[in-house]
Amino acid sequence: MADRLRAINEVQQAGIIARRRRGESPKVELSLPHECRVGYFPQDDGSVRLGLAFVPDDLQGNGIGTRLVQSATADAKRQGATVLRGAITSSAGLHLVEKTFGDTARVEDPSGTSTPLSMLRREVRDSADTRSGIRFTVALERVNTDGWELPVETG
Ligand SMILES: CC(C)(COP(=O)(O)OP(=O)(O)OC[C@H]1O[C@@H](n2cnc3c(N)ncnc32)[C@H](O)[C@@H]1OP(=O)(O)O)[C@@H](O)C(=O)NCCC(=O)NCCS
Repeated sequence: MADRLRAINEVQQAGIIARRRRGESPKVELSLPHECRVGYFPQDDGSVRLGLAFVPDDLQGNGIGTRLVQSATADAKRQGATVLRGAITSSAGLHLVEKTFGDTARVEDPSGTSTPLSMLRREVRDSADTRSGIRFTVALERVNTDGWELPVETG
């Protein structure tokens, strides 16, 4: 595990690889060694949908997920995206999104009222561990991405 972690940490600033796939459902996939990855999907309305982040079990808790989500966000913003949307489907994912976006991440209820993630009721937070998850929205103009690694593009 230590060797794999070292290999990831040795990937320096802007060493995260982004593969851009065009087509009907365009996708940008960001990756680090050892299968650590996150993707985002640019939408026609100028928003992006963040895909599920993945870090293998034994490498979790070392900041890799945060690094990838920050990089995807900085990249999407650089590409002109104004809004980021996603669905949180695990308590680890909830921590990751809260840590990355703080109260800029908001959840809208059916009446249109928006609530910062940190103020979600316990039962809503618990629903992160279901398939449908918690849908959130982030206004990217309110996110300071200075210092977040921009990925290297591979096409
Ligand atoms: C979610 C995931 C990508 C996070 O990756 P990671 O590399 O462990 O994330 P980080 O190390 O950057 O941790 C981010 C924060 O989440 C916390 N965290 C990590 N795993 C956690 C867990 N199982 N439960 C609660 N919090 C957790 C970390 O402590 C950290 O907060 P801190 O810096 O305040 O301590 C990873 O757990 C994963 O791949 N899980 C399985 C797939 C999944 O659930 N994807 C997200 C769906 S929304």
